[in-house]
Amino acid sequence: MPAGGQDLGGRTVVVGVTGGIAAYKVLDVVAELRRANANVRVVMTKAATRFVEPLSFEALSAAPVYTDLFAGGEAGPVAHVALADKADVVLIAPATADFIARAAMGMADDFLTTFLLAVRCPVIVAPAMNSRMYEHPFVQANLQRLSALGWQVIPPDHGWLAEGKYGPGRLPAPERLVTAVRAALAGRATLSGRTILVTAGPTREYIDPVRFISNPSSGKMGYAIAKAARDRGANVVLVSGPTVLEPPPGVTVVPVVSTQQMFEAVRTHLDGVDAVFAAAAPSDFRPRQRHAQKVKKESAELDIELERTPDILAALGESKGNMVLVGFAAETENVLENARDKLVHKHLDLMVANQVGMPGAGFESDTNIVTVIDKSGKVETWPRLSKAEVAERLLDRLEEMWGVGTVRTSSS
Ligand SMILES: Cc1cc2nc3c(=O)[nH]c(=O)nc-3n(C[C@H](O)[C@H](O)[C@H](O)COP(=O)(O)O)c2cc1C
Repeated sequence: MPAGGQDLGGRTVVVGVTGGIAAYKVLDVVAELRRANANVRVVMTKAATRFVEPLSFEALSAAPVYTDLFAGGEAGPVAHVALADKADVVLIAPATADFIARAAMGMADDFLTTFLLAVRCPVIVAPAMNSRMYEHPFVQANLQRLSALGWQVIPPDHGWLAEGKYGPGRLPAPERLVTAVRAALAGRATLSGRTILVTAGPTREYIDPVRFISNPSSGKMGYAIAKAARDRGANVVLVSGPTVLEPPPGVTVVPVVSTQQMFEAVRTHLDGVDAVFAAAAPSDFRPRQRHAQKVKKESAELDIELERTPDILAALGESKGNMVLVGFAAETENVLENARDKLVHKHLDLMVANQVGMPGAGFESDTNIVTVIDKSGKVETWPRLSKAEVAERLLDRLEEMWGVGTVRTSSS
């Protein structure tokens, strides 16, 4: 079995490549899908063939590439319909502004658009272009039309674009695209089109350049939520304090150190976010003064005056709008009472509480025992579960709130 996911043997993935500068990156996507044993068929627009030779895709997919609606070939003269019958999922990457407009209008002026009108399987589209083009109201309106049709739109990453400008428009990493294909094939893309922000890990508040105040949070709970949400097709932003964990591929990771930085990173990435899981354990206090040089141990005593750091959850609660807000509370006493109090005062939708010090629960452990409290006052205590399973159950609760999703048949 290939690394990183289930075997895709027997599944047909059609990859549509359009004429954008990022077309070459899709060679890796095709290679990765082939490594997972998928049958990959590539369709290229005429413009795409100006960026990458069809031969490269042919070699990597081990199959002829479709470029010409009227070419006929092994599948006969109506190859676009034959291919639509076979497709289990379609990924279009990169999707140009031009293609997006043609698809949104239901045009059928080349192989790709004609094929798409005959397709009945899930379609994923990954736009990539110059930021100003991407933000143009025509492009945005066309993407909305495609979303309304049920197509999954994977928003582009922010980054340096080919023209040397910074902004949204970069094609997401191949792993992100492959993950989306996997989720669609597994019928688990229940959160597709949603953006979920997760905070994870501890923060550090430096006293001097070599000493800091922190806590034993490992980040495992937040990382598990990020991975599970990604696997359900969500776009995930993971704002993470320092941890030793490997971030799940295909999520946008924003590394931070202090609570102030976490606060600012959350605010910066809040645009378009549908739900926040605040699983981090940001330090509530920081030294009022940070020493520029290491404090010498010869000093007989050291008084550290502490001040409050910003309350990230409370700030989110104050301006949450329609966003779903899930808080986490690690308590040493009166767990339920404290958790209820936070739920109300911070305007949360769900509070996940656990008692620090219980074996097999809380910081650093791979398992957790949590009590989940919702806005209506309903309280559920779950048995000891892996953090991965806690993450799945929390996402089930989120899907219930949104009225989406499927009933899971296994607890794995
Ligand atoms: C050098 C170059 C790079 C381009 N890169 C992009 C791009 O990244 N995204 C995009 O939407 N259009 C891009 N275009 C414009 C498209 O190639 C053009 O709109 C073309 O008609 C797209 O055809 P298609 O949608 O059939 O593939 C680029 C054009 C040139 C000349």
